[in-house]
This record gives sequence, C-alpha cells and structure tokens, in this order.
Amino acid sequence: MKALSTLAQSVRASTTMAIDTQFKKMRAEGIDVIGFSVGEPDFPTPEHIKQAGIRAIENDQTKYTPTPGTLALRQAVRKRLQEDWGLDYTTEEIVVSGGGKPILYVALKTLLNPGDEVILPAPYWVSYYELIKMAGGVPVVVETTEASGFNLTPQQLRQAITPKTKALILNSPSNPTGMIYSRAHLEAIAQVCVEADLYVIADEMYSKLVFDGKEFVSFPSLSQAVKERTILVSGASKTYAMTGWRIGFAAAGREIVQVMSNYLSHSLSGTCSIAQAAAEEAFGGSQAEIEAMRRAFEVRRDYLYQRMSAIPGVHPVRSEATFYMLMNLEELIGRTLYGVEIRDADDFANVFLREGLVAVVPCTGFGAPHYVRWSFAVSMENIKEGLDRLEKFLTNA
Ligand SMILES: Cc1ncc(COP(=O)(O)O)c(C=O)c1O
Repeated sequence: MKALSTLAQSVRASTTMAIDTQFKKMRAEGIDVIGFSVGEPDFPTPEHIKQAGIRAIENDQTKYTPTPGTLALRQAVRKRLQEDWGLDYTTEEIVVSGGGKPILYVALKTLLNPGDEVILPAPYWVSYYELIKMAGGVPVVVETTEASGFNLTPQQLRQAITPKTKALILNSPSNPTGMIYSRAHLEAIAQVCVEADLYVIADEMYSKLVFDGKEFVSFPSLSQAVKERTILVSGASKTYAMTGWRIGFAAAGREIVQVMSNYLSHSLSGTCSIAQAAAEEAFGGSQAEIEAMRRAFEVRRDYLYQRMSAIPGVHPVRSEATFYMLMNLEELIGRTLYGVEIRDADDFANVFLREGLVAVVPCTGFGAPHYVRWSFAVSMENIKEGLDRLEKFLTNA
C-alpha cells in the first residue's frame, strides 16, 4: 500500500498520554494512585446552563445551525467580550466551533502558507506545536525563564523574527505555567508585532481564572492596530466547567472570520445545536457561579504552593491564574531516585507514579523538561494526600 501522508504521520501523540495510560492501568488494578493530570474543572456545569441544554432538546433545537454559530450565541459572546474586556466586535467578527482546539487549528490554517514560521514561547501548551505543523507551518520555539515569570521578552521576540515569520502564539494566562502578562509587558510585545507585521493568536481560554485580584488584560483591547492583527481564541470549556460540551470561539477581523467560516463549512461544519444553546446561557446569563469556582481554585492554589514550598528538593512556581502549578525539579536532575537516574521530567514522573503512587504531567512535551505540572482541579483532600505522598517519596529516596 502507498504511504500515508508525511505531514499527518509527523504528528506526535500527546506526550502526557504515557503517564496517563499507566495511571489508569494501575487504578484499574486496584492500586491506590492519585492523579493530578486533569485539564478540566472538577465542578459540574452550572445548573442554569444544563437547563438551557435540556430546554433546547425539548424545544427541538436539534437541526443544522449556521457554520459560524447561531446568531444568539454570537450575540452572547459579543456581550461577554464587551462587558468583560471592553472589546467591540460585531457578530460577523465572531466564529464558534467545537472547542478551543478546532478553533486554533482553523485559525492557523487561515493564516499559514506552507513553511510560514510561528513563534511559540516555551513552556507552551502541548498541542500548539503539533497544530502549527498540522497547518503546514514551522514552530519556532523561544525559551523563556522562570526568573522572567515565563514571559517572552520583546527582545527575545525581535530576535526570533525572520522574513518567514507570520504569527506569534500568546497564551495568557498560560497552560502550563499559570502565568499572566502585565499590561506594560503586553504593550511592549504588541509594539514589536505591529512593527514586524505579525499576526497574533491570543489564546485567552483561562482569562476568568485569575488570582490575587491581578489585572488580566485581553491582548486585542490594547489598541485598534493590535485588534486588527489578533485572532482572540477562547471558549466555554474552562470558565464554565463545560469541557464536554465542546464550545470554543474566535473573534477577529471580518475577513479572517469569513475565511475561517468558509474553511469550517466544508470540514467540521456547524457546532452541536444543543451545546450552542447551553453556551448561549453560559456567556449571556448569570456569571455568579464562575466566581465561586475561581475562588475555590485560588484557595487550593494557596495550599498547594505553601506546602510544596516547604518540601526540600523541589520548588513550586506560584501560579497567578488557571488551575495548574509547575514544580521545578532542577535540584533532582542527575540524582538517582529509587534506582532511576532522573534526567528529565519524564523520568521523575515515571518513578513518582511507580513509587509515590501520584500521577503528575511531565512538561517535557511542553518545552519545559525540568518541570512537572500539577493540576489543582482536584479535591482539597486529594491535594493534601498528594503532597503527603510527595514528602514521603522524597524523604525515603
Ligand atoms: C491553553 C489552552 N487552549 C485551548 C485549549 C482547548 O480547549 P477546548 O477543550 O475548548 O478544546 C486548552 C485545553 O486544555 C488549553 O489549555
């Protein structure tokens, strides 16, 4: 048989899968393991949102919808962006699809010609790298440092630009670092993007999960010139505990949205009508419950950070947002734990699961091989137990 597509075959399965598979296998065998790898809120979807989905079924809202999303949903998204960040988009400048991931894929397909470069600050969310490749682009990874709060500096950005650079992916708040960019920093980054004529994909999926009263600044809100070159990506998944409903959206200039919509019309097509009705309630209805979830994440973040700070051999990176926290392993690199030489986060995560009975995400595939990611979208009880186990694991090593 003829060979499969070279491009498709170059796509790697998620590197987090290996640990996850092992974790699930151990649990199925009845072993008492605890997982901190989840990328979704542990709360149920708020009741008023679920009811909107139920009503949609009962009212026979079960037919095809327009490719870019129902007008009612796009109006609700428009209102949310206006109220939250003062952004002024028309409904023709908003497109909905089945989650943030497909939106990112179509956004990249819309921007890139084969061989175009996309600047990707590391640590990065694992899927960006593969999505850029899948869209025919070339990821250009720029390492950021813990000392700079994992923020890409304007100088680093300038140095990474070549005649082939088409876009920058900016993920604030960031998965996996939990960091956000300040207004001043974003302005400096934006200036470089305008000067160099770059598009920016601003993934603001976690923008409502910010702690300590910190200011979150939406990238396109900086100026009209910045808004014109930005594709804002967000969705319902993380904010409203709606990961399974599959609703994401982009807001951008009319031409970009039109091309994205054309592309979608022949591929993913319109989004589930029932999920759209529920998301309309999420974006357009009461926002009270999301504050309760945000607050619960903040309390857990405080606990995780404080306790982990006191454990010798590792140190946590205090996240400012999201429900993730990185743990720095540099002191353990080169040491032997339970007969295993720790060369990187994969080695650590494997032995921690086997001997410590705790699953965390090694950030090797996130461009951060000396860090593991703990999700605190798990119960406080499990967080306490997980940290007890970390302490014991390191003390007995
Ligand atoms: C930074 C970031 N962007 C986008 C997504 C995709 O979200 P969705 O589940 O809506 O596809 C995720 C999910 O983990 C994410 O962490």
